[in-house]
Amino acid sequence: MNSPIPNAAPIAEQPDRAQAVLASLLSRQSHWPLAEPGPDDTELAQIFDAALRAPDHARLRPWRFVLVRGEARGALGDVLVDLACARMPEEPRSAHAHRRQKAFAAPVVIALGAAIDATSHVPQIEQLMSVGAATMNLLNAIHALGYGGFWATGDDTYEPAMHAALGFGASERLLGFLFIGTPKRSSERPPARPERAEFVRELTVPAAAS
Ligand SMILES: Cc1cc2nc3c(=O)[nH]c(=O)nc-3n(C[C@H](O)[C@H](O)[C@H](O)COP(=O)(O)O)c2cc1C
Repeated sequence: MNSPIPNAAPIAEQPDRAQAVLASLLSRQSHWPLAEPGPDDTELAQIFDAALRAPDHARLRPWRFVLVRGEARGALGDVLVDLACARMPEEPRSAHAHRRQKAFAAPVVIALGAAIDATSHVPQIEQLMSVGAATMNLLNAIHALGYGGFWATGDDTYEPAMHAALGFGASERLLGFLFIGTPKRSSERPPARPERAEFVRELTVPAAAS
């Protein structure tokens, strides 16, 4: 999976490209459910490379991604069934079999992990935020390539069995999943977006008394 995209000239020097990039950022939305096809190897390389451009204090590189696709999704689905059985042992396993389907809700699933360096002067929250920033880049790259994505967590994300099944180590944390594929509903209406004024304010300096 080598990235075919070389370093480009600054976007600010190319007004049309700048507007195209902004249009892509402003039109991103989550999609569920997601169908085939998912991104191929070349596209996945671009998607992951976008994630690896996330800001990262002290170059700790806390991002850890596990690609789950094809039949490997079954292993993920089996853990979902196991966890449901453990939560409700009085019910037969067949009662939870449908939970396996969640792993197949999209052609490609990416498990989102963080390798936390507890010895670093960089607070853990900053290391986690860097993984959040990387995930946002994943979502934006997915959208730019014409696919849909959905970021999901849920209680199962924080279960040791899920952590182990994905091969995460003791110093790593599983933070959630990205589901990626082709939006099933092409006519989906864009969600209403919040008013900027509710979330953005400017710090002003009181006028000096004359
Ligand atoms: C860390 C994180 C975890 C999330 N987990 C879930 C989840 O488990 N289930 C869910 O329905 N939405 C979840 N969401 C919200 C969706 O990913 C999505 O952002 C939301 O449906 C709004 O859609 P939009 O991205 O088009 O605004 C999560 C979002 C974040 C940032």
